[in-house]
Amino acid sequence: MLVLGIESSCDETSAAIVEDGRNVLSNIVYSQIDIHTQFGGVVPEIASRKHVEKISYVVDKCIKDAKISINDIDVISATYGPGLVGSLLVGLSFAKGLSYSLKKPFVGVNHVEGHIFANFLTHKDLEPPLIVLVVSGGHTNILVMERYNNYKVYGKTRDDAVGEAFDKIARYLNLGYPGGPIIDKLAKDGNENRYIYPDANLENPYDFSFSGLKSAVINHINTMKQKKEDFKVEDVVASFQKTAVNTLIKRVINLCFETGIKKVAIAGGVAANTKLRQELLNSCLNNDIKLYIPEIKYCTDNAAMIASNGYFKYINGEENSLSINAVPYISLVSKNSI
Ligand code: KG4
Ligand code: ZN
Repeated sequence: MLVLGIESSCDETSAAIVEDGRNVLSNIVYSQIDIHTQFGGVVPEIASRKHVEKISYVVDKCIKDAKISINDIDVISATYGPGLVGSLLVGLSFAKGLSYSLKKPFVGVNHVEGHIFANFLTHKDLEPPLIVLVVSGGHTNILVMERYNNYKVYGKTRDDAVGEAFDKIARYLNLGYPGGPIIDKLAKDGNENRYIYPDANLENPYDFSFSGLKSAVINHINTMKQKKEDFKVEDVVASFQKTAVNTLIKRVINLCFETGIKKVAIAGGVAANTKLRQELLNSCLNNDIKLYIPEIKYCTDNAAMIASNGYFKYINGEENSLSINAVPYISLVSKNSI
């Protein structure tokens, strides 16, 4: 079964053709990062205009690269939220238009759920049940995926997402946008044990809070500047990254022990982080847990993961009417329907 996926929730215009939910025939990603970098973050109005400019070309190219004809597509799926509403609307409306004109079923995909499916593209033999850590610029969730479309959310961030903390600290230090990959690189030359930053203690031990960590780092930088203390930016970001990564890993390992599930997958833009990948791998090896990490190209926003999720929803009987609208805020909640 061939599924066309379309993703436009933030600043990437992407379209992909995926066969049977796992085999990527094409995945075209047009990134607007260069445009938004000069503003230090995504400018929503510019983002939606760029999506409008690129969407036809990106979809057309993904069909050509997959060496199929448009009529070979069986199902059309697109992200309907969460994200920037103006951006979401471009991909969603385009997909609904195609579904109507080609008379093919439409499946709306939750972007955060979509990130999880990046794992099924990279690991052909991966099957639920598994524990998933979703870490992106807008979301931080830890959940147990019992079946493809059935999961239980154990924890989420109470405030900032982990990627947001990376981005805001980088912005404060004038390091550029997006901050995650820049901090990842700089931290390699820093001493991560130079400073100790706090890890939040929350009522639900699986929840996260990154706003306190972010403020602690920013206040610490301010204090050092006021006291005219010399400091290496590399040490600050490495110490921050170490705390953030430890917070994530601690919850993953605890949930493995609590549930007895010894399979872990990570998803979302921050899953590209070198330190997280290394440390999580070490912790998993030490605890006899199998770790699945998506290829870097499927960690950040892309349409292949959306097409994969669309496929698994469709074969489980889910389909949406074309009255589905873009929804900017949707939090990931436990799902036991199927
Ligand atoms: O999943 P994504 O592309 O978009 C959202 O759905 O949010 O994630 C983007 C986030 C940004 O916050 C970015 O700084 C972060 O992922 N990111 C990283 C790395 N690469 C991307 N964070 C830490 N280390 C990285 N190597
Ligand atoms: Zn994303």
